[in-house]
Amino acid sequence: MVRFVGVQNAVRWIQATGLETILGELSEYVADDYRRWESFDKSPRVANHSPIGVIELMPTSDGHLYGFKYVNGHPSNPSRGLQTVTAFGVLSDVASGYPLLVAEMTLLTALRTAATSAMAAKHLARRDSTTMAMIGAGTQAEFQAIAVRETLGIRTLRVFDTDPLASAKLVRNLTPLGFDVYVASDSADAVAGADVITTCTADKANATVLTDDMVQPGVHINAIGGDCPGKTELDAAILRRADVFVEFPEQTRIEGEIQQVESDFAVTELWQVVSGTTAGRASAEQITVFDSVGFAIEDFSVLRYLHDKTNHSAFSIDIDLVADPDDPKDLFGFAQGSDAPVPAL
Ligand SMILES: NC(=O)c1ccc[n+]([C@@H]2O[C@H](COP(=O)([O-])OP(=O)(O)OC[C@H]3O[C@@H](n4cnc5c(N)ncnc54)[C@H](O)[C@@H]3O)[C@@H](O)[C@H]2O)c1
Repeated sequence: MVRFVGVQNAVRWIQATGLETILGELSEYVADDYRRWESFDKSPRVANHSPIGVIELMPTSDGHLYGFKYVNGHPSNPSRGLQTVTAFGVLSDVASGYPLLVAEMTLLTALRTAATSAMAAKHLARRDSTTMAMIGAGTQAEFQAIAVRETLGIRTLRVFDTDPLASAKLVRNLTPLGFDVYVASDSADAVAGADVITTCTADKANATVLTDDMVQPGVHINAIGGDCPGKTELDAAILRRADVFVEFPEQTRIEGEIQQVESDFAVTELWQVVSGTTAGRASAEQITVFDSVGFAIEDFSVLRYLHDKTNHSAFSIDIDLVADPDDPKDLFGFAQGSDAPVPAL
């Protein structure tokens, strides 16, 4: 039997454990896997594009466990009452090839993206940061805010979304959790005085959510929403003033903000900072950008974390996903019901 964590059990698990606890522990899982980055099988994700969206497969393995995620990105979905990003994934045993866990990953994607942003901010933002600007107040936004608060202690938020209802939803969700939220009139207003800027918008376009003049020395930017060819958020001039940190350069050069600059544009791989082989922030004036696109190892980390936490709990159930006859060569007999008769419907 394979363990399954569906949406309802994932929600119960989050409520029982607490979002802050999960984001803190998950950041450690992601950091552990970043520290052993070189032991993973890595490739850019496989992306199938359509005019309005993308469906992607994201595999990786550490030689013992294998994980993959199926994820879509359809920025116009909310106008149809659907989510921009949905996902599910699998964790498998490399020795047998058998799946161990199937899980919903829409929630897990929000968790791992936030945990990774917080890990980046821990190494790249100024220690004295007090204010975060959030451009885009959709699905990912609250998770990003809570994860960064867990890491840097920031509770003052300046939010801007082109949809006022999204900003109102964020205020409604975060104010009771102790955040001090200011709703800005535009991006420039949102980033005024901010130490950390998170861009988390969805638009299948080379948008310019931040212009160069909006970015002051010393700022750290988590650029989350530019994650597909032709889908970026930052003015390229910002990248040229900043030090840019990426997940897997081979994927980020195709999908990230750096698709806008030359193919040999200098970047630093975040795993090297996390593992201590390269410096993170070097000065109080430096502008740092985490050009996040989302990489398979982060999904592997969250699947590994979920499996560790729910495998022997009521938050996961058995599903009969794998046909596994007693005689491994007699799948035919199994299909005839000779192995374990299947009850009639
Ligand atoms: N890097 C990663 O690992 C990762 C992971 C998940 C999602 N994403 C990306 O992050 C983005 C946000 O995802 P989501 O699930 O929150 O999407 P969402 O559709 O729920 O929210 C996006 C929000 O951005 C707002 N917006 C669009 N254009 C804007 C603009 N110019 N200025 C201000 N606000 C604007 C929209 O009104 C919406 O509220 C998407 O582009 C998604 O593809 C990246």
